[in-house]
Amino acid sequence: MPDSAFRVLEILEQAVAPLSGETISNELGVTRSAVWKQIKELRLMGYDIRSSQKEGYKLVHSSSKLLPYEIHKKLKTRVMGTKMRYFEHTLSTNNVGKQICSEGDPKKLHGTVIIAEEQTGGVGRMGRAWISPGGGIWITIVLKPQVPIDHIFMITMAGSIAVARAIRKEYELGALIKWPNDIFIGKKKIGGLLLEMAAEADTVHYCLLGIGIDVNNPVRDFTADLQKDITSISAEVGHDVDRASFLARILREFENRYQLVESGEYDAITQEWKSLSATLENRVQIRTLKNSFEGEAIDIDEFGALIVRKDNGKLERVIAGDCYQQ
Ligand code: BTN
Repeated sequence: MPDSAFRVLEILEQAVAPLSGETISNELGVTRSAVWKQIKELRLMGYDIRSSQKEGYKLVHSSSKLLPYEIHKKLKTRVMGTKMRYFEHTLSTNNVGKQICSEGDPKKLHGTVIIAEEQTGGVGRMGRAWISPGGGIWITIVLKPQVPIDHIFMITMAGSIAVARAIRKEYELGALIKWPNDIFIGKKKIGGLLLEMAAEADTVHYCLLGIGIDVNNPVRDFTADLQKDITSISAEVGHDVDRASFLARILREFENRYQLVESGEYDAITQEWKSLSATLENRVQIRTLKNSFEGEAIDIDEFGALIVRKDNGKLERVIAGDCYQQ
């Protein structure tokens, strides 16, 4: 959001009564027509600002869009989300991440959150399409990690923990993590994470942690086939929720776990992941690019690999693949 619109909004939010254009223009040291322009812009962003000749301007409702300013007001982090980029529509926030990292210095972009109201070409794991209509949370966190490349999956684990914890704390829903990085409520998927990175030898240039969560987007808009396997926050709690507060909470939970990953406290991450796991101690079917087998998921190691005891008793370490549970 442009800085000037942000300042007009702050003034309107703090006002106890309607304010004239003149009062706002005096406070900001700009012309009345500049104030009018900013009000027009704020309305386009979804802010309900009423005006009357007699009384002036009054903010009636904040925007229900996932605007950086709405998140910023609720943010309690030091790094994550202190820089944000917002798009009404974009192909994929991960794509935007790749673009800005190729044009700028990933170190300076560390912690930037890219937000889209809608994605027209959202991507899931294994290159699958990720349907991303308005009302969900579709974001990418840009990271320049100080993490050895063999432990990079810990970042996704930290992200999954953050999403599950945020759902539990904000809505008291029993969110769990299904290996490798799906978020489930009961038998239905509510979100997923996708980590992409640019690396050379053992140097990680940057990582992009994409997070997609069905929040206020109506599940009935998905195909009948998907509807039976997918849920959303609003479907679970019975009403639309404040996405800005939820995202601010996710970022805070993530920042805490990310610090643990960077300081090498892998055991703390693994233990917390296990305590939220929907996969461990379950019978699973694993499909990798090479093969497919069944067994019992018994553990996850500090590299994020799933340990499966096959029916012949042999232990198999799975680094990537699809995991189906009964
Ligand atoms: C999965 O397959 O479960 C992972 C889904 C990840 C989707 C998110 S939405 C924001 C970001 N942009 C994308 O195109 N994908 C990720």
